[in-house]
Amino acid sequence: NKIGVIFDLDGVIVDTAKYHFLAWKDLADHLGFEFTETHNELLKGVSRVRSLEILLDIGKVELSEEKKQEFLISKNEHYLQYIYKMGPEEILPGAAELLDTLDTLGIQYVLGSASKNAPLILKQVNLFDRFLGIVDGNSVSKAKPDPEVFLIGAEKLNLQPEHCVVFEDAIAGVEAANRANMISVGVGDKKTLHESNFNFNNLTEIPDNFFTEVISEKI
Ligand code: G6P
Ligand code: MG
Repeated sequence: NKIGVIFDLDGVIVDTAKYHFLAWKDLADHLGFEFTETHNELLKGVSRVRSLEILLDIGKVELSEEKKQEFLISKNEHYLQYIYKMGPEEILPGAAELLDTLDTLGIQYVLGSASKNAPLILKQVNLFDRFLGIVDGNSVSKAKPDPEVFLIGAEKLNLQPEHCVVFEDAIAGVEAANRANMISVGVGDKKTLHESNFNFNNLTEIPDNFFTEVISEKI
């Protein structure tokens, strides 16, 4: 049985959540309310526009459409300052090795990210050319937990959803994978990601026989 893999980017391949946090926190400071790391969990996997809405809810701030657009642009400009400084050393532990393993096994993989900055980030860490296809925030109309991003990924892999394995660190992403009828692998805290079919703390923990035996048996 042929399988394929769809990777989320932020929090699975690279740890950009810390940069999103710094940029959103700066905006919250500017607007005069506290924004914590716990708040930041709510923004993981969620689109940029939706993230701003959640942030404004936390601060109980209402803004005009014009102001929102302005802050979306300034937040992203701030975030990009960190991204431009990124290099391959910021690839998360086990990620590069996992791509090597998939190459060896002849299993194809694509990216399925909510980020409009995904191509830039992949280029910064020298992984852009490794993926068969890239589905990002520019190519979807419905954000996770809607399954759209992963269903487009399955099309790029030319596989049925049931034969796709999704690696995700966000609650919204695991839900999207489950709704797409794919095999969801949660990367991170088991309690947070309890809806995933499999769970690992990080990508170094994936056993050698995961694709050849564990997944094949499930399909
Ligand atoms: C990822 C991150 C989210 C982020 C979203 C949009 O899913 O986990 O925190 O809001 O991408 O990212 P962007 O780079 O387009 O602002
Ligand atoms: Mg993520």
